[in-house]
Amino acid sequence: MHIREIQLNNFRNYASQRIEPGPAINIFVGPNAQGKSNLLEAVYLLATTKSHRTNRDTDLIRVGEDTARAYADVVREEQNDIKIEVILSRLEKKIVRLNKVRHSKIADAIGQLNAVIFSAEDLEMIKGDPSERRRFLNLEVSQLRGEYVYALGGYKRALEQRNALLKTLKAHGHGAETLSIWDEQLTGFGSIMLKARFDFITHLAEIASRIHSQLTGGVEELEIQYEPSVSVNETDTVEEVADRFKNDLLECRQQELARGITVRGPHRDDISFRINGMDARYFGSQGQQRTTALAVKLAEIQLAEDMVGEPPVVLLDDVMAELDERRRSHVFDLTFGKCQTFATATGLDEFSNEIISDSAVFNVSSGEVARA
Ligand SMILES: Nc1ncnc2c1ncn2[C@@H]1O[C@H](COP(=O)(O)OP(=O)(O)OP(=O)(O)O)[C@@H](O)[C@H]1O
Ligand SMILES: [Mg+2]
Repeated sequence: MHIREIQLNNFRNYASQRIEPGPAINIFVGPNAQGKSNLLEAVYLLATTKSHRTNRDTDLIRVGEDTARAYADVVREEQNDIKIEVILSRLEKKIVRLNKVRHSKIADAIGQLNAVIFSAEDLEMIKGDPSERRRFLNLEVSQLRGEYVYALGGYKRALEQRNALLKTLKAHGHGAETLSIWDEQLTGFGSIMLKARFDFITHLAEIASRIHSQLTGGVEELEIQYEPSVSVNETDTVEEVADRFKNDLLECRQQELARGITVRGPHRDDISFRINGMDARYFGSQGQQRTTALAVKLAEIQLAEDMVGEPPVVLLDDVMAELDERRRSHVFDLTFGKCQTFATATGLDEFSNEIISDSAVFNVSSGEVARA
């Protein structure tokens, strides 16, 4: 798939911008703070309805304005082409339009465009809190599995209600029988999430480990493991996971009533990254953590292609400059010539003449993009 046209209105530092990227490599060059990352952020928003670097949608609205708009016209091989539009407002809820039709479910827009982003924030996935890894899982699995988006929404609502009830029960001590209604909801949605996360990580781990071995010249072995809060096995059905989850909830009932919160469920999941048996989060060097993040992202490209049937759009935010020759050539090998790529850089020196001659080069300056 590739993007034929992008439009931005009052998005970050862009007032009004239209870009026609090429179907292959697009390089956006400019000094610091001109809007290069903002442009990639807009593409990621169009793929996921969320930013990869902020949870506050209003950050994306140009200072002094009330609404922001991002639009992309996407060419797809496996499905019909699609025009995606996201409108953010300071006063109202987010609006999405697909082929000009407004969808009341924002989730309908997720995964219509598939994008894998490489950015400085990737390192947080390895060294940050478990919440960073759950955020990564939610954003990535959502793009690939429609049912996950709805399960996630349902789970969040059920968890909120259940926690509110547990809090009341902790204070007043009666009415525990109503908990079973929320247990039903929580385990129903939660089991879909657990199973989808298990499948995603199993598949990702296999590909990432292979790529990681190539990136390190076979010296290091990467092992990625899902650490679910409710055990999941390869052959489990969603119903079996839900039953196990329900049992777990019953087992920790007293603890939950004493603490007034839900202690089990996908909101407590984590992922571990081990390099030669050692946890990369605690023992990995900066370089090892970077390489791990890079292997995971490169694996995602392959995974997205396997699941969707065509390669995703790749967003490389300032990553080339940081990589050594071996890693850089791997990124080229796995993306260029296959995926439409948006790469940002402060200068063209990071790219070989061969790459540059195959690329569309754009200059970015004070929120304006122009073909070089
Ligand atoms: N909501 C907003 N309204 C107006 N301007 C904004 C908004 N959010 C960010 N900016 C501006 O956008 C600029 C940063 O853009 P961006 O992060 O895309 O820079 P960049 O070109 O990627 O730079 P670097 O090379 O340093 O990464 C900053 O000058 C910032 O003030
Ligand atoms: Mg930037």
